[in-house]
Amino acid sequence: MAFTYFFRDLHTLEIVVRQMVPEVLGRSRIRVWDAGCAMGQEPYSLAMVFAENLGKFAFGNLQIQATDIDESNLFAKIIQAGEYPGEQVKRIPLEVFAKYFQPAQTPGYFRLVKGIRSRVVFQRHDLLSLTPVGGDFSLILCKNVLLHFTPAERVKVIKMFHRTLAPGGFFATEQTQKLPGEVAHLFQQVAGDAQLFRKIGDPKCN
Ligand SMILES: C[S@@+](CC[C@H](N)C(=O)[O-])C[C@H]1O[C@@H](n2cnc3c(N)ncnc32)[C@H](O)[C@@H]1O
Repeated sequence: MAFTYFFRDLHTLEIVVRQMVPEVLGRSRIRVWDAGCAMGQEPYSLAMVFAENLGKFAFGNLQIQATDIDESNLFAKIIQAGEYPGEQVKRIPLEVFAKYFQPAQTPGYFRLVKGIRSRVVFQRHDLLSLTPVGGDFSLILCKNVLLHFTPAERVKVIKMFHRTLAPGGFFATEQTQKLPGEVAHLFQQVAGDAQLFRKIGDPKCN
């Protein structure tokens, strides 16, 4: 099973959300793609950070498409239920846990509240197919996934992300992932202390 946990690299998630909120507040749809979402801890963490920073009305316009290649075959079942064992939620700050989790029917498990679950949809998807799962995304989050690809694959996947973002949309990756030189002209880094980029450039030219 992939290594991940709730609120991993919270610093980046908070920077991403703070950058986006002023721009997306008036939109009827806030479309986000979390590519390589493992068992859902990351997209649900992102949804909770958005919930804390967007008003209730705008939060209702958020849709996170969470995808993974799902080698375990457990993906859809675990994530759609939004249920996690106590071991996986014990490091979540108490006030956040109390607000967004409830005891599940299965003893020792906890379930995310419907308000959070309803903002995230899941789909099995192979990034190396280079076929996007939609378009016009305000944000593509792809953390701790690109490092598994060859440099050439990484460039192709990031170009596909660029085509799939809305004009001025954001792309975020993990702190240790540098943007390859071949795609550097397509993005502008927007935060010095996070790997957060904004789409620039003509999509027809990539
Ligand atoms: C280490 S986890 C990262 C999870 C989360 N993004 C995080 O940062 O904590 C890497 C995930 O990438 C997924 N992955 C690997 N190759 C993939 C591919 N070709 N397409 C989609 N997902 C892939 C794995 O299944 C795994 O769930």
